[in-house]
Amino acid sequence: MDFKIQVAELKDLAKADCDALLIVVGEGTRPEALGRALGSVLDQALQEGDLAFKAGRCLYLHRPAGVKASRVVFAAAGASTPKAFKAALSAALALLKGGGAQHLLVACALPGPLQAPHAQLLAPTVTEALYVYRHTKPSASAASKLRRVTLACPAAEQAAASQGLAVGEAVAEGVALARECANRPGNHCTPSDLAAEARRLGKAHGIDVKVLERKDVEKLGMGCFLAVAQGSRQALKFIVLQYRGAPKASAPLVLVGKGITFDTGGISIKPAAEMDEMKFDMGGAASVLGTFRAVAQLRPKLNLVGLIPACENMPGGAAVKPGDVVTSLSGQTVEILNTDAEGRLILCDALTFAERFKPAAVIDIATLTGACVVALGHHRSGLFSPDDALAAELDRAGQEALDPCWRMPLDEEYDEGLKSNFADMGNVGPRAGGAITAAMFLKRYTGKYPWAHLDIAGSAWKSGAAKGATGRPVPLLTQFLLGRSR
Ligand code: BES
Ligand code: MN
Ligand code: ZN
Repeated sequence: MDFKIQVAELKDLAKADCDALLIVVGEGTRPEALGRALGSVLDQALQEGDLAFKAGRCLYLHRPAGVKASRVVFAAAGASTPKAFKAALSAALALLKGGGAQHLLVACALPGPLQAPHAQLLAPTVTEALYVYRHTKPSASAASKLRRVTLACPAAEQAAASQGLAVGEAVAEGVALARECANRPGNHCTPSDLAAEARRLGKAHGIDVKVLERKDVEKLGMGCFLAVAQGSRQALKFIVLQYRGAPKASAPLVLVGKGITFDTGGISIKPAAEMDEMKFDMGGAASVLGTFRAVAQLRPKLNLVGLIPACENMPGGAAVKPGDVVTSLSGQTVEILNTDAEGRLILCDALTFAERFKPAAVIDIATLTGACVVALGHHRSGLFSPDDALAAELDRAGQEALDPCWRMPLDEEYDEGLKSNFADMGNVGPRAGGAITAAMFLKRYTGKYPWAHLDIAGSAWKSGAAKGATGRPVPLLTQFLLGRSR
């Protein structure tokens, strides 16, 4: 993050020393600090119908008389909830994006006190709104000039707000890292690039990073992961990250991220339309890196392991073929009926590998199925877990972080479809309920610890004009981990 963020008490917003003033207003409240000049502008705008208390409505004023800040934005919030606060902020920030503001002051006039959850959203919302992808497009609009963000806050509320701000800063950094990684094209984000990124993160933030190479993976016997990787010229990497924030004896949480840096489908090749979006198929891996970034900053009292199987899924003379049978690290054999169902193949070996850490819980994060997008669209990630308590914990974390998920079923009946005449299981079931069959496949490898699976195929990136990664579910995962460390 290129800006510093702080809280300050302000008695008169018109005199505030900043070059952009963003005022979130709720219905029926009027901050004392608004003063006469700004107060009358607000009244008139409301009276004349130029501002209304509806989500997304805002009003931009340039150099209004009697106000020190050269830019003022009023953003109407439809309610006092953190969600409404975030929506108002986003709408207002869109008006400031690309502008020259260096010091943004955010004042909040909502009924009820400003609480930590509101403050927590500030940094992620600002970073999200101002992000510009430049890695392979340096000509894109210049990076934001913003250097300071101040949250106006009465003295009595500052302690809670500061705590929220600090968590938010870490989440913002994590989301930004995940987003940037996932946005990079397949030729700029290979498995080796992912490993380099993990090592960089480790060096900068005191996280232990080890990278297993093909020969290590062969020795271990990860036959499913190897099968997916064998069609590509890019070397596979199995990345292991370890953060230690609690005594050794404390069982770690393990995050497993799908790291397919490009998914062509393999021999079961995908149609050409929108295939470019399969560069985002390492969104799970990116979210693991992003979550480690946040954790490294917040230093919660827990142990955390990150596992990232990374490779490309390519067709070619050496590629795995439909009908090939391979032996997973667990010893179970798999008939690869569709080479495009590769995510579960790299994950199942990582899930077996996770056993050696005797984990308190394992959560895998994967852009796993198009079927999940059909089921839930792009708003909620799919949550699968046979463990009610763990599912409830993740669901709550998603709600708190405004990074929502929705629990999906795992009835034994859905396992039927995985039957194979030639192996312990096939890697695909019927088309209907495809997100669930994929989860049932993974479930066969997770008997030894509490487990949950997040299918982020719909939530990890946006298509269309706003095509790009979202950095989700870093907020959910960070919130979950903070909950575990208390
Ligand atoms: N990476 C895809 C899942 C995906 C597809 C994510 C579209 C986002 C948008 C995954 O590897 C895949 O190809 N899954 C197949 C599974 C099928 C062959 C059982 C799918 O969803 O079509
Ligand atoms: Mn695929
Ligand atoms: Zn895939």
